[in-house]
Amino acid sequence: MIPPIKSLEGNLGIRLFVGLFLFSILNGAEPADTNYLEEKVPKYRLPKLLKSDLKRAETVTEWYEKRRPELQTLLETHIYGKTPTRDLGPFQTRIIDIDPQALNGRATRKQISITIDDKLQLSIDLLVYLPNQAEEQVPCFMGLNFYGNQTVHADPKIRINPRWMAGKSEIGIKNNRATEATRGVYHERWQIERLIKRGYAVATAYCGDIDPDNYQHDFSDGIHPLFYRDNQSKPDPGEWGTIGAWAWGLSRILDYIIESESAINAKQVAVIGHSRLGKTALWAGAQDQRFGLVISNNSGCGGAALYRREFGERIHHMIKPVGYWFCGNHANFSHREQELPADQHMLLALVAPRPLYVASATEDQWADPKGEFLAALAASPVYELLGKTGLPSPQIPEPNTPVQGTIGYHLRNGAHAVTAYDWEQYLSFADRHFKR
Ligand code: GCU
Repeated sequence: MIPPIKSLEGNLGIRLFVGLFLFSILNGAEPADTNYLEEKVPKYRLPKLLKSDLKRAETVTEWYEKRRPELQTLLETHIYGKTPTRDLGPFQTRIIDIDPQALNGRATRKQISITIDDKLQLSIDLLVYLPNQAEEQVPCFMGLNFYGNQTVHADPKIRINPRWMAGKSEIGIKNNRATEATRGVYHERWQIERLIKRGYAVATAYCGDIDPDNYQHDFSDGIHPLFYRDNQSKPDPGEWGTIGAWAWGLSRILDYIIESESAINAKQVAVIGHSRLGKTALWAGAQDQRFGLVISNNSGCGGAALYRREFGERIHHMIKPVGYWFCGNHANFSHREQELPADQHMLLALVAPRPLYVASATEDQWADPKGEFLAALAASPVYELLGKTGLPSPQIPEPNTPVQGTIGYHLRNGAHAVTAYDWEQYLSFADRHFKR
């Protein structure tokens, strides 16, 4: 995930400095000012979710009509930016490949191209696997991937994504393009065979089809220009960044599924993402209430973790390398987390009353597992207001001991990753909520 240093502007010294900074953040050697001590977490007060502490005084109608939109506006204004409401669709879709005997006959593989804009050559390459043994409509896990659909399974028929991607030679990205060597490199993160066996469909697309995760970001090569006013050349400080664009893409994929994938139960689409794409899954699920279940895997700062704990990654750590994931206003709260008008319990509360799963990992302190847990706990009053259970544990559970109400949480032993263990929990959670 190291950016191509040669293309950074400036002299060699600056390039090396920026390169090292990015390298340290994106490869786990965190900046020296990172706090990992619980005793150094400041005393903080979360902004109120519900206007009254007596949550029963707040009616359900008030939540949906007033408070929910208010919270969404706060998150838009200060964190992710506003998603344009202009409807560019309907988009043309083209089935490029269909194989009813994929994965040794267990699944049907479909590859679909969703054209976003011909002139800008923007399209989403969607990969779908449907379980063949199903007798009725099936639920589906949907999420974006980091390096192209061909990374999620070794199936030789998956098209290799031809677009720019961030350099990662160890998985076979050469000159910012995917090679054959990338096939199946992230199969563990996706567990396609396991999902098919359990009767779930899977839909995935490369995040860079929507907006390339390019560290010299100027918003010129993704979907943002499609929404500019005359003479606008970059998003305004309150308009969406890259996470907003990725979340928009997830909603467009859901549009396609609703309209064209009759084998999938469109009310049972679980949106899932890991890390930056976990932040994205949460923002997509918060804005688009058609997603039936939302899963955040190790999403950390700007995802499920509470900003106010100032533990692990913080806003000022993000500005240089990846500030473009967020809106311009986000950077104003660098070193000022306590003044941020929103915090991430609000993001999680926007998923209510739909099932929400937040997962952390013990070695992923950069993402602040406890802050992820506490945000889920603090979102619970909204679930309760809406007649659901929220998170059924006031304490962070021991590692590998999931707690599951309508909000689920686990702290897996191990590193920043998506593993078979994580998927086992997501599957049992989805089975329960989708009543299978
Ligand atoms: C970096 C970044 C995190 C992000 C992660 C990822 O570590 O600091 O915020 O979640 O990359 O997406 O892999």
